[in-house]
Amino acid sequence: MMHVMTVVGARPQFVKAAVLSRLIRKEENSNKVRETLVHTGQHYDENMSEVFFRDMEIPKPDVNLNVGSGNHGAMTGRMLAGIEELILERKPDVLLVYGDTNSTLAGALAASKLHVQVAHVEAGLRSFMMAMPEEQNRRLTDHLSSWLFCPTEVAIGNLNAEGIKDSGFGSHTSDRKTVKMTGDIMLDASNYYRQKADLETEHVLGTLPQDFYLITIHRAENTDNPERLRAIVGAINSVNDRSAVFPIHPRTRKILDREGLSFGRHVHLLDPVGYFEMLRLEGSCSFVLTDSGGVQKEAYFFHKPCVTLRDSTEWIELVDSGWNVIVGADPTKIERAIRSQETPASYPALYGTGNAGELILTNLLA
Ligand code: UD1
Ligand code: UDP
Repeated sequence: MMHVMTVVGARPQFVKAAVLSRLIRKEENSNKVRETLVHTGQHYDENMSEVFFRDMEIPKPDVNLNVGSGNHGAMTGRMLAGIEELILERKPDVLLVYGDTNSTLAGALAASKLHVQVAHVEAGLRSFMMAMPEEQNRRLTDHLSSWLFCPTEVAIGNLNAEGIKDSGFGSHTSDRKTVKMTGDIMLDASNYYRQKADLETEHVLGTLPQDFYLITIHRAENTDNPERLRAIVGAINSVNDRSAVFPIHPRTRKILDREGLSFGRHVHLLDPVGYFEMLRLEGSCSFVLTDSGGVQKEAYFFHKPCVTLRDSTEWIELVDSGWNVIVGADPTKIERAIRSQETPASYPALYGTGNAGELILTNLLA
């Protein structure tokens, strides 16, 4: 029986783990696989963590390392020490990580140093901006991994360009890799939970304007740079005849307060919402303005145009197909994009067919 140790820690990882952990637990009776679920504690507020486990029925973590917030080195170091101890104690066959957060890198590094094979879900993404903490985390994780599960063909191409190629089935090492296109596991999540979200979240829209666009901002490149943040806030405020809803990440709220920045009354600020509420907002908005990775794709799942507050995106196929426009922190571009967006006629299956979880598990157990 394969013993998989899954490491999660941040909001988008809970959404992805909801899919695969459910499938793994379904297989447990077949004696092929079992899971130990580790929460690093990177996200810890009720509405950044617990709400996802509760609503999405994610198995309760076997261990929570409770690392909390901090500088990158200290936070990653605490995770590394904690995960290493757990690996030595519980001896998993595979360590599974998602995406590109500090929790991802800590899991991959702890495992590979102990010669435990790493499986990386959402492998191969690149922004080609090494200053981003996410780019550092994902590049290092990909190079340490034995299984690389890619959401897009672009991601496979990025890995191949760095010399990471599929070696075919067989014994895995970090030099002998399986690289597979699986489609995007967030599509599985969105398909699986959408109906439940619809049934349970009607109340969410009650106090909101009928016609609104949806904002999320939290990335370091925007929040840690007061000038960029000021430019973005200014641009949103300057278009005050378009209502917006903004469930605000605690990081962003703290920095706005510190910098004395605020939004006009046309922007409805909410505390971070649960996944079901978020799906409801994405389904009901007219378009999305975001710097999130996951939310760019979810906009597409809901056939909504996306305006991206970054200088590049890993999800380049959205830009190529006309569904996403990159505006950085340029006020003129942001204002223009808020006033009018394009909704392309064609809607290609950019992220697979919604069975990424099954493909990942099949490949792991092959
Ligand atoms: C992290 C990821 C980012 C991902 C995001 C998802 C890294 C380097 N970054 O960014 O890639 O897009 O998660 O949301 O791993 N905070 C709270 N309560 C919480 C969590 C955070 O108040 O439950 C505040 C703290 O002030 C903390 C700050 O948010 O210092 C930043 O949290 P952190 O986990 O370091 O990074 P994120 O911005 O959440
Ligand atoms: N999300 C949520 N509530 C919010 C904001 C985001 O449930 O208030 C969900 C969103 O639907 C997506 C995931 O969190 O599934 C994306 O996380 P985030 O934007 O924090 O991180 P990123 O994808 O940029 O790493």
